[in-house]
Amino acid sequence: MSQVFLNGHWLRPEEAAVSVFDRGFLFADGMYEVMPFYRGHVLLFAKHYARLERSLKALEIPNPYSEDEWLSICQTLAEQVPDANAIIYIQITRGAEYPRQHLPSPDLEPTVMATATHWTPPATTALPVRTELLEDIRWLRCDIKSISLLGNIMLKREASRLGGFEPVLHRAGRVTEGASCNYFIVKDEVVYTPPADELILGGVTRDWVIQVAKEAGLEVREEAFSVAELMSADECFLTSSTREVQPVGQIGDNQIGNGQIGPVTERIATAFRASRPYSLSEE
Ligand code: PDD
Repeated sequence: MSQVFLNGHWLRPEEAAVSVFDRGFLFADGMYEVMPFYRGHVLLFAKHYARLERSLKALEIPNPYSEDEWLSICQTLAEQVPDANAIIYIQITRGAEYPRQHLPSPDLEPTVMATATHWTPPATTALPVRTELLEDIRWLRCDIKSISLLGNIMLKREASRLGGFEPVLHRAGRVTEGASCNYFIVKDEVVYTPPADELILGGVTRDWVIQVAKEAGLEVREEAFSVAELMSADECFLTSSTREVQPVGQIGDNQIGNGQIGPVTERIATAFRASRPYSLSEE
């Protein structure tokens, strides 16, 4: 593992510690960001940074660093793992104070930490997975990348118990997203994904997939769709920084298409891989 960046210091993981009075620990009062580095290069840093700023602004937590400073911190972390293929995790909480009180004191010093974990970017399209349809029990500001993830964790555990890789969530029959990913369906060669409103986290991968799919000549609609439309889709896939484009072959007992990777999904996944800062197939 890399060193830990904590409040301006570079520490060994076993040295890195925060106060038990940190509001992140007591109230999950904070936000996070996750971004993939490929050989030391990040895909879409500006978009990750823009989302980090949006989340901080929504929570009224000051941003302690500039965009350039953040990029340099992330690059320094990425370079500490093999091949600089890294998932960078950033977490910023409102800070620590005693005694515990719901209303935070003004002008707290945020707690800032970042780490890098080694990962291997997928070389080919992953095999289809099974996901599970569950009711979305989370709060109504899913657009903020908050560290309050209890709803997501409960849903992920329930999906796992049912034999699924991820949940696919719905509110009153309208599909939202997964516990840690966005969803797409394909019907009659048109690609659909729920709109980036307050009911989902607008994924950086989601945005990039939309652009890549349009550039590949596909029609993409950011439109709400129902559970019935999900279940009768020709193809389905999910996206995230760590999964990139992941085909879904089954939802509960319902097979999607023929259960295999659909042709549109394959086209998008291939175009996505080719758009990364470097392509494994080019090695
Ligand atoms: N999760 N929706 C939710 C609820 C998420 O937690 C994530 C990402 C996404 C996809 O966002 P992006 O494409 O920017 O990674 C959608 C990250 C990977 C995580 O929590 O680890």
